[in-house]
Amino acid sequence: MERTLVLLKPDCVQRRLMGRILSRFEEKGFNVIAMKMMQVTPDLAKQHYAEHVEKPFYPGLEEFITGAPVLAMVLEGLDVIQVVRDMLGATSGLKAAAGTIRGDFSSSRQMNLVHASDGPDAAARETDLYFSPDEICSYEPTLTPWMKAGDE
Ligand code: CMP
Repeated sequence: MERTLVLLKPDCVQRRLMGRILSRFEEKGFNVIAMKMMQVTPDLAKQHYAEHVEKPFYPGLEEFITGAPVLAMVLEGLDVIQVVRDMLGATSGLKAAAGTIRGDFSSSRQMNLVHASDGPDAAARETDLYFSPDEICSYEPTLTPWMKAGDE
């Protein structure tokens, strides 16, 4: 089992797309094991996007990500890190394939609706940034035997 940090970004909240996008992750079979609405501060934005802080687009990214609340969550499941990245599609909504979340709902490079960790190290680091251990509620859904075979 893997875990990944997902943010439904301010554009997703403002456009009232949270429910539709969360449904995709639930329908796929991933467990939501932590979730909260929160306001990203400039300080948290700089920690989260440390690798982008020196990039020309960072000031706009910080203004965007701190401009309205986000819905932060941790998803758990088999190969969840890569599968969620695949579900999001390319960074720019204009380049993301039809059928992906960004491909279906975004036409922007910055306002691309959802963030998801890009690997195991980022998933661990970002989960620690947004959640304390006591906010994570892992559980075994009763329908697991109908979602995957026992040896998967
Ligand atoms: P995300 O997957 O959260 O990772 C970094 C974010 O920066 C990205 O989604 C976009 O919201 C934003 N981003 C990435 N590249 C650019 C760019 N060239 N111009 C503006 N915003 C960008």
